[in-house]
This record gives sequence, structure tokens and C-alpha cells, in this order.
Amino acid sequence: MEIDHTPVMPDEVLENLLIPSGPSVMIDCTTGEGGHSSLFLERYPSLSVIGIDRDAEIQKKAIERLSVYGERFTPVLSWFNDYLASADSGMADAILFDLGISMFHYAESGRGFSFRGEETLDMRLDKDGDISAQDIVNGYSEESLADVIYRYGEERYSRRIARAVVERRQTRPFELSSDLAEVIFQSVPPAYRYGRIHPATRTFQALRIEVNRELDRISPALGEAIRVLKKGGRIAVITFHSLEDRIVKWYFRDRAAGDNPDIRIITKKPIIPTEEEIERNSPSRSAKLRVVEKVV
Ligand SMILES: C[S@@+](CC[C@H](N)C(=O)[O-])C[C@H]1O[C@@H](n2cnc3c(N)ncnc32)[C@H](O)[C@@H]1O
Repeated sequence: MEIDHTPVMPDEVLENLLIPSGPSVMIDCTTGEGGHSSLFLERYPSLSVIGIDRDAEIQKKAIERLSVYGERFTPVLSWFNDYLASADSGMADAILFDLGISMFHYAESGRGFSFRGEETLDMRLDKDGDISAQDIVNGYSEESLADVIYRYGEERYSRRIARAVVERRQTRPFELSSDLAEVIFQSVPPAYRYGRIHPATRTFQALRIEVNRELDRISPALGEAIRVLKKGGRIAVITFHSLEDRIVKWYFRDRAAGDNPDIRIITKKPIIPTEEEIERNSPSRSAKLRVVEKVV
């Protein structure tokens, strides 16, 4: 597969995430391969970037890519909510979140993120994390499994899929992503098997979110990000599915409402990629960018 390493909505992020002239600090909460960080480091010679990622393997790629910027790039191996909770108030001029996982995870990590591969079902960003996708499909009760698939995958056949998974693991526990994809494929109605998306797409998304507790980290991180930001600084958040976007939208609306709001919303409607970008980089098609500014 040809991998496009261009970050999502580069021009829109640069235009909206304002960086003051003079020495300044940006926190890239989801550095990935360093696509967005490199754009900002290139554009603003007095900017330093603190680059967070919980995945040591992808972080290695960012460190290599950004080594040309010397001490202006500081990598931090952490969940972004943990890092922000321990950061000083008012230390950052700008904060970026580009949520979810990267093309690297699907195509190169070998951790079973893709239903197309034949890889160990792991899906942990933190290799020492206490629960893997295998633990979930082989260990959760049928009911909990169905709940996870429904809640984090918005999968309408969650119960059928959970039942098929539990039935199959009684004879042979799951090891590979391909086994799970096949069981899901067989468990759904024939008409659903050849729909717009592969029938395993939503279940794989749900497992990944459960393994890494992705959604639980967003609101706490946004709250800390507002505290860590300087007055007048901006936060930009790129989401890739409605579950993430809903959390971000409502968190920002809440904080921008009332008598003493501490942020103002810059993007009344989220910014979405141009047709041209979607054509060039198809995973960007579901991206939404929301931006807020700290006002107190
Ligand atoms: C969509 S990618 C970011 C791509 C990046 N903006 C670029 O241009 O290369 C998201 C990255 O954030 C990391 N990540 C996701 N959730 C995280 C969290 N809660 N804490 C820390 N890192 C996280 C993933 O490991 C992944 O590398």
C-alpha cells in the first residue's frame, strides 16, 4: 500500500492554530510520525514543540524525522491526558490534537489493527498496557463484548457478532486479526457482508477504542489543555468519527457557555477537508477540525 504521510488538513491547521512571533511553545498531543509538528517547526523558527505520543515505535519515527530541528523538538512518551495533567498552567501558546491512530498502525505496526492483515490481535499503543484486543475477545462476557461493539463501533449487529465470537472461542481462542475478521464476516447477514464498508470495520474500531481507552481520555485532556494554555492561545482538535467529534463539540460548548466562559469557539461549524485533499488522501474524508481560543 502506498502510504501518504501528509498530515490531515495541513493548511487549515496552520491557518487556525495561531503561533505568536518570538519564542513560543506548542504541544502536539498526538505527534504520530511528526507530520503536523514538522509543518509548524518549519514555518515558525522561534517555536519549540513538545511532542506527545503513547506509542514508542511511531515516536521513534518522529524523533528521526524531526532531528533536524535539534532541541526545538522534545519527545514525551505518555498518554496525552497524563502529560497535560502534570504540565504547568499557562505554559503553552498552542495545543494540537489529531485523534485516533495513524496509517502506520494499520500498515506497519503488526499489532492487528487492520481486519485485512494476519497479525496478532493486540492493538495496544502502550506495549505494556494491561489489556490487549485478544484479552477482550477471549475474556469478556458475551454481553460486555456486545456492549463494547455497540458503544464504540456503533455496530447494529453487535449482538450477533458477540454471540459468534463467544461460540468460536469455546473451541479455539482467537489469536489472529484474520480469524476475527472471518468470524465477523460469517456472523452478519449476507447483504451486510458486501456493503459500503467491510463488516469487521466497526468491531475493529470498537476494540481499539476499548483497548486504549481512547474516548475516556478526551474530555479530561481538553480540560487540562485549557488550563495549560496561555490566554489568547488556541487549541485545535481533529477527530475522525462521530463518537470523538461529539465529545469534543460538547466539551467546548460547555466551556464556552455561561456567564464566565474561559474559551471562545472559533469554528462554529467544524472545518472539513477539501474535495482535493480527500481525493489525494482518502483517510482524511471523515476528518473534522474544531478550534477554540482561551479568553481568560
Ligand atoms: C492520527 S495520528 C497523528 C498523526 C500526526 N498528526 C502526523 O501528522 O503525523 C495519532 C497519534 O496519536 C497517538 N495517540 C492516540 N491517542 C493518544 C493518547 N491518548 N495519548 C498519546 N498518544 C495518543 C497515536 O499513537 C498516533 O501516533
